[in-house]
Amino acid sequence: MAILNILRYPDARLHKVAEPVKVFDDSLKRLVADMAETMYAASGVGLAATQVDVHKQVIVVDVSDRRDSLVVLVNPEIVEASGVSDIEEGCLSVPGIYETLERAERVKVRAFDQHGKSFTLEAQGLLSVCIQHEMDHLQGKVFIERLSQLKQQRIRARIAKQLRKSA
Ligand code: NI
Repeated sequence: MAILNILRYPDARLHKVAEPVKVFDDSLKRLVADMAETMYAASGVGLAATQVDVHKQVIVVDVSDRRDSLVVLVNPEIVEASGVSDIEEGCLSVPGIYETLERAERVKVRAFDQHGKSFTLEAQGLLSVCIQHEMDHLQGKVFIERLSQLKQQRIRARIAKQLRKSA
């Protein structure tokens, strides 16, 4: 396994749209294992393949406190959504920025695991929000891009300042 490099906003590669996975082979299993290791090492609750510059529809999520409940979603599809959630979100590609977006409180997701087995998952609360956040990444969308233009401008200014400080 290996820890992968996580792209940072505003890297243009975060805007690529991921392709569906067609072959469930060893390279997919390796990608999933590496993504999980990368997510845990960064203390994140979710990671999309887009964030490690692999443009395939693959997501890993673990919202448990004990970090022992890995969920792998390949080619995920939301088949039902309901309610409104207002959980604050962060992103490993946008460190230090936390914002609340309007998301569905509950989602039903159809997906495959890394072995090609299909399953349906019903999620609510943080897990639901996290899955929606990661699925946005697969569409080339970073969560802050769902905010108003004014808020996005402020965030970009903050990020530019952070980058100048760390340079
Ligand atoms: Ni993210």
